[in-house]
Amino acid sequence: MNLIILGPPGAGKGTQCVRIAQCFDLVQLSTGEMLRSEVESKSELGIAVKNILDNGNLVPDSMVVDMLSTKIDVHDSIKGFIFDGFPRTDAQARTLEKMLAEKNRKMDHVIQLNVDEAVIIERLSGRFSCSRCNTGYHDLYKLPEVENKCDVCGSEEFSRRSDDNPETVRSRLVAYREKTAPILPFYESKGILSYVNGMGKMNEVFENIKEILTRE
Ligand code: AP5
Repeated sequence: MNLIILGPPGAGKGTQCVRIAQCFDLVQLSTGEMLRSEVESKSELGIAVKNILDNGNLVPDSMVVDMLSTKIDVHDSIKGFIFDGFPRTDAQARTLEKMLAEKNRKMDHVIQLNVDEAVIIERLSGRFSCSRCNTGYHDLYKLPEVENKCDVCGSEEFSRRSDDNPETVRSRLVAYREKTAPILPFYESKGILSYVNGMGKMNEVFENIKEILTRE
């Protein structure tokens, strides 16, 4: 099974992708995570995209596609992929279809998480993650069980994303509205698009997604 989780910034894509990948034994491919790690390592690509990420704009299609295709190539004999944050433009959606066809794969489900913009701002301003293993947390909705200690790896270092400030979040929302939301009809016409209310509790959202993925 291959699927895409779509939605505006802060909709809960990353949160749900981790759970879905574990539950269905899929490989999660997050282009945002990949780009941030390129920036962190100061690679040629990272240096080229740093300002784009900091300004909340989309990285050019060719760069993202090249980066992603190398990751797809590494995982040849797996049950499937869950794409997090990709595709984000019409060109990326069409390229992904071709990339999967070359591997004798197809897209089975596209899940769009709907969340109000006011909630998005609240979610992104409270988000932080473990600096060592990247597990995500939130000031209001998901604190570590032991104060200042990561539930997964025990690290006591946490960080916040540089693109989670209000000005950059506004740019990310504009990019989503103008470039990403318009690709929904492409998947609707294929009959593989489902909408999930992303405003419920994390577990409720996950149960709703699971119900769609296990439907006969
Ligand atoms: P990316 O990393 O993909 O960021 P994004 O799409 O803006 O999404 P986020 O990661 O901010 O949010 P999310 O939906 O994953 O929510 P999360 O689960 O973390 O991309 C970053 C940048 O990279 C882009 O701006 C662009 O520049 C570039 N880029 C990436 N892909 C690209 C592409 N394909 N083409 C071009 N450029 C690309 O949840 C958010 C917070 O809310 C967390 O704290 C979480 O704990 C909390 N939360 C989640 N669900 C719930 C819930 N149900 N209830 C309460 N709190 C919740």
